[in-house]
Amino acid sequence: MRIDILTLFPEMFESPLNFSILKRAQQAGLVNFVLTNIRDFAPDKYKKVDDNPYGGGPGMVMMPGPVFDCVEHVQKLDPQKPRIILLTPQGLPFTQTKAQELSKENRLMLISGRYEGFDERIRIGLNAEQISIGDYVLSGGELAAMVIIDAVVRLLAGALGDEESSKDESFSQNLLEYPQYTRPEEFRGMKVPEILLSGDHAKIAQWRRQQALERTRKNRPDLLKNNNL
Ligand code: 6GU
Repeated sequence: MRIDILTLFPEMFESPLNFSILKRAQQAGLVNFVLTNIRDFAPDKYKKVDDNPYGGGPGMVMMPGPVFDCVEHVQKLDPQKPRIILLTPQGLPFTQTKAQELSKENRLMLISGRYEGFDERIRIGLNAEQISIGDYVLSGGELAAMVIIDAVVRLLAGALGDEESSKDESFSQNLLEYPQYTRPEEFRGMKVPEILLSGDHAKIAQWRRQQALERTRKNRPDLLKNNNL
């Protein structure tokens, strides 16, 4: 998979993309990240990429010119047609289902905005999909792009080691994960549930399922509504 990232702050991505699973996935050749600075496509010598909103109001808006020029430049760096995604709080909510869908693409192009948002003609002209990572406001789309990249890349075949697995995780079955324990058997007076030490795999599976349901009911009842349980 090739992931193009268009941003005003490419340096923000350097550390997150170069640790742990994302680092290993690059080393294994599963994914290739290409960062491009939108400011390099500013038309004037002041490198201006934003301007005041027509109609007045606070904040600045990303101008369409530099974003379009940047997208067109990046598109030509590779013959594959990218799936274009704009990061914006106005987008559709990002979910595990969306992560799975994106993990099947050969090429993604993630566009991170800053300021009060994108000139509407960017959304219209690029016919881009818009994604939000949740109901809160971030200072820009960079952290949202990193969240999406992490969720998507770990689903690529071979990205997780044998020890890790994505099929049992929270949300993979629309349920939160069951409680986990490791050594020691007793810690500060708190004991590992007896059943997990029993060696009875059927009973353990049953207990875990019941715990997952209980937890989901308590913390995320909204998840159960869309479940066929
Ligand atoms: Cl994608 N961008 C910004 N600026 N804020 C957000 C977001 C994106 N998703 C949730 N909040």
